[in-house]
Amino acid sequence: MTSSATGDKAIPDETILSVALLGPDEQRRKVVAFAVSKIAGLKLYEFSSFPPRLEDLPRMLAHAYEVVIIDMDSDPDYAFALVENLCASGSTYVMAYSADADMKRAVKFMRAGVREFFTLPLDEAEVSAALMRAASSHLEPPKTESQQDKKTGKLFVFLGTKGGCGVTTLASNFALALAQESDSSTLLMDLGLPLGDVAINLGIVTEYSIATALENPNRVDSSLLSKLVAKHSSGLSVLPAPTILPESQANKEGVDKLLKVARDIYDYVVVDAGSRIDLMDSNLFEDSATIYLVTQVGISEMRTANRMIVKYFAQRGENLQIVINRYKTSDAVFDENQITKTLTRPSQWKIPDDYAAARRTRETASPMVMTDSEISREIRLMAKTAAGLLAEKSSKRGFFSFLR
Ligand SMILES: Nc1ncnc2c1ncn2[C@@H]1O[C@H](COP(=O)(O)OP(=O)(O)O)[C@@H](O)[C@H]1O
Ligand SMILES: [Mg+2]
Repeated sequence: MTSSATGDKAIPDETILSVALLGPDEQRRKVVAFAVSKIAGLKLYEFSSFPPRLEDLPRMLAHAYEVVIIDMDSDPDYAFALVENLCASGSTYVMAYSADADMKRAVKFMRAGVREFFTLPLDEAEVSAALMRAASSHLEPPKTESQQDKKTGKLFVFLGTKGGCGVTTLASNFALALAQESDSSTLLMDLGLPLGDVAINLGIVTEYSIATALENPNRVDSSLLSKLVAKHSSGLSVLPAPTILPESQANKEGVDKLLKVARDIYDYVVVDAGSRIDLMDSNLFEDSATIYLVTQVGISEMRTANRMIVKYFAQRGENLQIVINRYKTSDAVFDENQITKTLTRPSQWKIPDDYAAARRTRETASPMVMTDSEISREIRLMAKTAAGLLAEKSSKRGFFSFLR
């Protein structure tokens, strides 16, 4: 084995790449070694034979060398087996060379994972370009599994037809139930500005608020967000509204930036949007978001609900969910048909009026879904449906009923 580390072309950032050159044919190997040795920042190790034990080789080579260059002609089958083993490890940048330009063979080696292929007589510029590519691929940290698979978090937005109809109650309890039922990272964001009350509802005392983020969209990143977020004992993360009147209202840029960063981090982002139809142009209402339109049975609320649905949400399918809060079957001003007609479609959820449960929440600062009640059962059902947990169960149920 010989080594050389001098040359006149430099690998970026003075990285030392270790290169193993495996060539039983000395003449061909020397030609390749000469081309490689012209590049600075490399350490070249020449091997005059293929290692005898194929099983140990990939591990040994992958550990020791970033780049392995293999002679395809000396023992073609063994060379191919070598390449396959080596490329399976994924971490080595494998190149191969041959005296004949047999494209079929070259393709076969490329399919096995060879990244660069040279024919003799060697084009030195080609070799140098290939090694530059190897160096930059080595410098680029491999993506971790979570980076590759990380999907954008799902967005659920609660919007009310008017103040007091229950947006905060439903958004906070839904978020809490979602975090618990799905066991996934969940953020509840209070956009019910100027003075949202999500934190009060959940009994959270915080130092920071969403205002900091909305006022400085350019500064919003995962580290700032993590500083502003408070953790509820259930595991739910909460980005509360300010407790004092903020200087300015939330703007579209601030909201969009915050949503992007939040959805990159969390599996689920739940927003208490209050009655903020002024944010209709923001990403809060983009097609992928599920909008929960919260209303009540009452002449003015029903009229507003109708206007909002027709104006903003007519094109939405399943991702507009209508929630009728404080629902009472007994003294309904409207009957079921009238409600459906006014809403232009049936409502998905009806949350019963439960004065006692609401009072208990106010007095103990313990969220409704933490205690069993008709309201909490309905909200848990909403959360399970949103997390896709119910589809599994109902299909199983369908299977058993089919058997029966
Ligand atoms: N289904 C319900 N039954 C009884 N009281 C409710 C119900 N939903 C909400 N409330 C109460 O109504 C009040 C206003 O609700 P809130 O969620 O703050 O409305 P919003 O955020 O839309 O202004 C709160 O005191 C809350 O406890
Ligand atoms: Mg509110």
